Amino acid sequence: MTRINLTVDGMKVSDDVEPRMLLVQYLRERLGKTGTVVGCDTSNCGACTVHLDGESVKSCNVLAVQADGHDVTTIEGLATNGQLHPVQEAFRECHGLQCGYCTPGMIMQSIDLLNHNPHPNEQEIREGLEGNLCRCTGYHNIVRAVQYASGHLAAAAGSSGAPQEVTPA
Ligand code: FES
Ligand code: FES
Repeated sequence: MTRINLTVDGMKVSDDVEPRMLLVQYLRERLGKTGTVVGCDTSNCGACTVHLDGESVKSCNVLAVQADGHDVTTIEGLATNGQLHPVQEAFRECHGLQCGYCTPGMIMQSIDLLNHNPHPNEQEIREGLEGNLCRCTGYHNIVRAVQYASGHLAAAAGSSGAPQEVTPA
């Protein structure tokens, strides 16, 4: 067993884990963070995407011990004081989900995309999300949701860029 100390969704955690334990297993099985889901276990689908020190990673592709000393944010850590994160709100407004299985990973990856490129065009959104698969093939509304979030985040930040305002479907 190896001792790890990390922060998960703002909460400091110390634990003993098997060195082979995956981060996604740790989040789900030890911390009960079942909002982070497993769709493939082979780093193909992106359903398990979380942020490690603010950058998206597929948590089935990271060992829990690699998160030692780091800051992990899951889908469950996005809302503040009962308020959805703007990207969560955008997915809700634009119906960017069908069964919802891919949604936690899609949202975490979309936030990472917008952090790096606040005003992505459609092609850039599709490329930015190419590591995340939606089995329901609901990609159209997912792209619309990211465009919607981009516009609202830019408006909230008072950006002078050219946000793509999207009216919910
Ligand atoms: S469960 Fe991690 S990429 Fe599919
Ligand atoms: S909404 Fe069903 S997998 Fe994406």
